[in-house]
Amino acid sequence: MKQTRRTLLAGMLLSVFALAGCGQKAEKAAEAPASAPAASASAKVPEYTVGTDASYAPFEFQNDQKQIVGFDIDVLTAAAAKGGFKVKFVNTPWEGIFAGLQQGDRDILASAITITEERKQSMDFSDPYFEARQLIAVAKGVTGVKTFQDLKNKKVAVQTGTTGDEVVQKLLGKTSPNIKRFENMPLALKELQTGGVDAAVGDNGVVINYVKNNPQDGITSVEDTASFAPEFYGFPIRKGNKEVQTKVNAGLAAIKADGTYDQIFKKYFGTK
Ligand code: ARG
Repeated sequence: MKQTRRTLLAGMLLSVFALAGCGQKAEKAAEAPASAPAASASAKVPEYTVGTDASYAPFEFQNDQKQIVGFDIDVLTAAAAKGGFKVKFVNTPWEGIFAGLQQGDRDILASAITITEERKQSMDFSDPYFEARQLIAVAKGVTGVKTFQDLKNKKVAVQTGTTGDEVVQKLLGKTSPNIKRFENMPLALKELQTGGVDAAVGDNGVVINYVKNNPQDGITSVEDTASFAPEFYGFPIRKGNKEVQTKVNAGLAAIKADGTYDQIFKKYFGTK
């Protein structure tokens, strides 16, 4: 018994020396995650296809050069560098974004997506990376909107199938003709700007960003923290895809720990 152990130990030591001895390769091995066996050190870093509805500034949008940029893009890119994977962002319409994940066309979604119990039935999520809340945007000249309840008899625009759509359905009724649904948030906000609706309900970050950048529209925002619960964004991952989930979470934890996340937050939102 003792004999065998000693032989084993000697063997292990030998292979450690052998590794250390082969210059280049040993350096590569050191770059691999500590837990990965040496044999996989030369294996390629996996590249994941990420679906993003890039019409949702400041979380994901296209800049003047048509590049996909934004808070979510920076967070996931930084997490990838730490988590040992690569990301390829593909602009993907919101409608069908979840189907694309399920069918395997996308490995991850980065789209300011709220983690909900209902969505958790059909997909897994990374750990949360951002806290949000619904916010009301009110059209120029519309008065008397102080709380969410005040939208009861108003025309309200939402992005189809979002958490904003859900809350408005609860207030106005699922089939209410006063809910105007749009494929993306810019279309919903356009309707607000042209006076087709009295208000729009959407994620606070996006509404605030729009109001700030379009002062000529005269749109105002109304908070109602009593009516809207906090929401947490996560990156959806195909159900049961532990490999991707583990890597994304490891990357997220690393960028939260080393200050990268705070830097990105500051870049987009100015504060901590
Ligand atoms: N957070 C909301 C939700 O999950 C809205 C997300 C919309 N994102 C987008 N990129 N259009 O339903």
